[in-house]
Amino acid sequence: MDDSQSMPIVEATGVSKRYGATIALHDARLRVVAGQSHALVGRNGAGKSTLVGLLTGLRAPDSGEIRFSGSPAPPLADRQAWRARVACVYQHSTIIPDLTVGENLFVNRHPSRHGFISWSALQRQARALLDQWDIGVSEHTRAGDLKVEARQLVEIARALSYGARFIILDEPTAQLDGEEIKRLFGRMRELQRGGVTFLFISHHLQEVYEICEAVTVLRDARHIVTAAVADLPKQALIEAMTGEQAGAGAADAASRTPIRDAKVALDVRDLAGEDFAGVSFAVRRGEVVGMSGSTSSGRIGVAEAIAGLGGYLSGSIRVNGKPVPPGDVPAALALGIGCVPKSRHKQGLVLPLSIADNATMTVARRLGPFGFLAPSRKRSMAENTIRSLGVVTEGPEQPVAALSGGNQQKVVMGRALATAPDVLVLMDPTAGVDVKSKEALLAIVERLRAEGRAILVVSGELEDLRTCDRVLVMRHGGIVAEHPAGWTDNALVASIEGI
Ligand SMILES: Nc1ncnc2c1ncn2[C@@H]1O[C@H](COP(=O)(O)OP(=O)(O)OP(=O)(O)O)[C@@H](O)[C@H]1O
Ligand SMILES: [Mg+2]
Repeated sequence: MDDSQSMPIVEATGVSKRYGATIALHDARLRVVAGQSHALVGRNGAGKSTLVGLLTGLRAPDSGEIRFSGSPAPPLADRQAWRARVACVYQHSTIIPDLTVGENLFVNRHPSRHGFISWSALQRQARALLDQWDIGVSEHTRAGDLKVEARQLVEIARALSYGARFIILDEPTAQLDGEEIKRLFGRMRELQRGGVTFLFISHHLQEVYEICEAVTVLRDARHIVTAAVADLPKQALIEAMTGEQAGAGAADAASRTPIRDAKVALDVRDLAGEDFAGVSFAVRRGEVVGMSGSTSSGRIGVAEAIAGLGGYLSGSIRVNGKPVPPGDVPAALALGIGCVPKSRHKQGLVLPLSIADNATMTVARRLGPFGFLAPSRKRSMAENTIRSLGVVTEGPEQPVAALSGGNQQKVVMGRALATAPDVLVLMDPTAGVDVKSKEALLAIVERLRAEGRAILVVSGELEDLRTCDRVLVMRHGGIVAEHPAGWTDNALVASIEGI
């Protein structure tokens, strides 16, 4: 079939969208051919999520037009008509945690007889839907107890049940580990064969090549190129995204002389908690240590214990010889521990507050209850964060809610750095960050290392781990391997997956 002839399942032409002074989209376009998985890529703040908002009828474009299978988009108020055409699975769940899976699937459209909800019918319908798409989740499970992977499948099933055959996945892999991503891709291929078309957003460009046939690149709110992925090699894709020649990539630790005699800054001994036990390691000043493992390996539990975000049951954590009490963030901060948490929404940012307030929150906290940060100081610290991390924003007073996902992540990083901590714990620090900004973030890690700080990078991303002097691998709650810098991707992946 000739692509240019076939009917697009969705087509946006000349769409523009403005938020105050920010032009989020300018005369952009997108054409997705039915049956072809289509990638939407671009740097942080390029306008991807804004376009998704227009394609799902969350907002109307200021100008331009959206058509589904050749017909104009329904009016915004007709939610049912939109749901029958398109759905988006976001990084943040749109399911209600306290309801069961079955209730979530048929919430607001409970099968009713004479005005009464028929619970047995609801359960039966939910089971039939889950079976139809071969989703191995019980309809009775509380939705809040689902893992990210299962939650995404339930959301896809819900979209399909409304009749939509066009599904947008906005960074679906950001919170999944290698095995889970493989399963998601397998599932996407099956659904594609069953007549579902995907629009796929990711900052992991290799995934674009793995799962998509076509790709559209946005840059600075504009459409740059649409091509078959086979016709756009990775270098060309990065150049389209950045508008410049591709850079050298992040520093690789393999060329550094290993650190042996620097002072130990972080010392973890025989640490045990809810999902880990017997964890011992040390990080010296000027050393970057990686900690990897699947999402259920316990690595996040260990990282959160060190940062005071989570507790521990036995063992010890010491920073410069001083004990870190369990589950006490202010104490951890006071001892000189900085942290980029796993979930920027749950533990990271206060969305309605400004960049300046968010970026300096840890400083104010470290100054104690009577601590006071002069507004001019606050502003200059925030401006420094914006400049050094390349946050795309109108300025320090803008609320973080108005920033794109990747730019929010940069503010979280800036906040961790604001107290000039001796020990930095970074959990998936580049999640949602574009390729180019990733290099900038990792360059900052390198600078901090050179300043003599001790850094623990807890991540499932190989790119994040390449700057590490050594990488510890966790499995089933314990450290099972240590790889000095210079490891091969295959060796590390095998170790993480336990093959
Ligand atoms: N509600 C809002 N108010 C003000 N500005 C906004 C709002 N939502 C988005 N923007 C701005 O619009 C621009 C595009 O943002 P968008 O979220 O579409 O980027 P994105 O391509 O999805 O980036 P990322 O990869 O970081 O998720 C950004 O400059 C962002 O700050
Ligand atoms: Mg986005």
